[in-house]
Amino acid sequence: MKRGAFDSKLGVILASAGSAVGLGNIWRFPTEVGSNGGAAFILIYLACIFLVAMPVMVAEFVIGRSAHANTVEAYRKLAPGKPWFLTGYLGVAAGFMVLSFYSVVAGWTLGYTLKAITNYSHASADYAALFNGFVSTPLQPVIFLSIFMFITHWVVSRGVEKGIERFSKTMMPLLFIIIAILAVCSLSMPGARKGLEFLFRPDFSKLNMDVALSAMGQAFFSLSVGIGTLVTYSSYFSKGTKLISSATNVCLIDTLVAICAGLFIFPAVFSMEGVEAGAGPGLVFITLPHVFDTLLGGIPWLRYFVSVLFDLLLLLAALTSSISMHEICTAYIHETYNTSRRRAATIVTTVCGLLGIACSLSFGIWSCYTICGMTFFELFDYLTAKILMPLGGMLICVFAGWIMDRKLLHDQLTNNGTLKVHSLRALIFLTRWIAPLGVGMIFVNELLK
Ligand code: PHE
Repeated sequence: MKRGAFDSKLGVILASAGSAVGLGNIWRFPTEVGSNGGAAFILIYLACIFLVAMPVMVAEFVIGRSAHANTVEAYRKLAPGKPWFLTGYLGVAAGFMVLSFYSVVAGWTLGYTLKAITNYSHASADYAALFNGFVSTPLQPVIFLSIFMFITHWVVSRGVEKGIERFSKTMMPLLFIIIAILAVCSLSMPGARKGLEFLFRPDFSKLNMDVALSAMGQAFFSLSVGIGTLVTYSSYFSKGTKLISSATNVCLIDTLVAICAGLFIFPAVFSMEGVEAGAGPGLVFITLPHVFDTLLGGIPWLRYFVSVLFDLLLLLAALTSSISMHEICTAYIHETYNTSRRRAATIVTTVCGLLGIACSLSFGIWSCYTICGMTFFELFDYLTAKILMPLGGMLICVFAGWIMDRKLLHDQLTNNGTLKVHSLRALIFLTRWIAPLGVGMIFVNELLK
């Protein structure tokens, strides 16, 4: 079977960054920062990104490119006869779950985009009430979720170069520019000072193990690591791709976007009455329209233009991420069961669509159904970000650091000795010791709670 491949170096970075940058940065990051006390959370988050999640990313790149296969087959090829392929299955299962709850929020984004487009003569309103009303009705969010799922399906069915790579290359640069402009604008709002303090002045009394687990979960979620997304993507990389520098670029881009998102959300939060920093999943959807009103209310056409553009870009960022989650599962079904790519994609879309509907209804008529005190949506988010992704990441590091053939690992990191990598020893140390032990420590603490 001929496998797809990314066509260029830029394609590799933008597709991986496209997977990483998404609702995790612009919706989940501010929500987590808000409910975990601000700057102290950010400090731990940064440590988790660069000491734990980045080594996992490099390890995923190594595994994917050396095996040239989807995430289950990769372990079968590299460790034949051993149970490591179970790590691949864990990733595929997590891929289904992440896509299911992610597409609910992506559906909201689609709804907001359409509202922004059709609402030129806009009057400001109670955005918190509007948001809560919208997500708790059964029908509308489900329709938007289904449309979003369908678009994801369409891009994935088109394949790697024509679908994923082309799409990411056009959209990602546009997204960066808009986010930077918004951050600069938001800093001129009256609550800017308080917002900045919240983001950058750590209050260490707020730190505890729950905050650490949340920060680690957010780091894994934001970089899309731990479930084989990047094992799958890197199986489409060419021999010349520099794995370590690509991973570094993706981590830097992702972190920058998350911080910029914080920079435009929190000044706005502290400028608004009645909205708390810990407002939960609605935070972004409530504060953003307010930012646009306050900053641009006097120039209606500009307010219209910027809000439509922003919602559209948020939607596109969500799409480049959801495509990568879909691809983990589609590539696995397509290659393992020898079905056409289209049929594999249809199976994934149908299953995730149905699970997604359950998550969506859990904001309204199904909010009474809970498991361990969590609604379906909360449960899927918790299980993937806080358990499966860190657990998968730990196994991936143990596999790359201890189990994989040493020479193969070295050859992949240095492109068969043609690259001089100064940070090689440090990276291998992080992969073998710091990342698995870091994740393990936080897990053990949670269990002993
Ligand atoms: N990293 C993506 C985001 O920040 C989410 C994601 C998680 C994508 C897992 C793929 C796999 O939005």
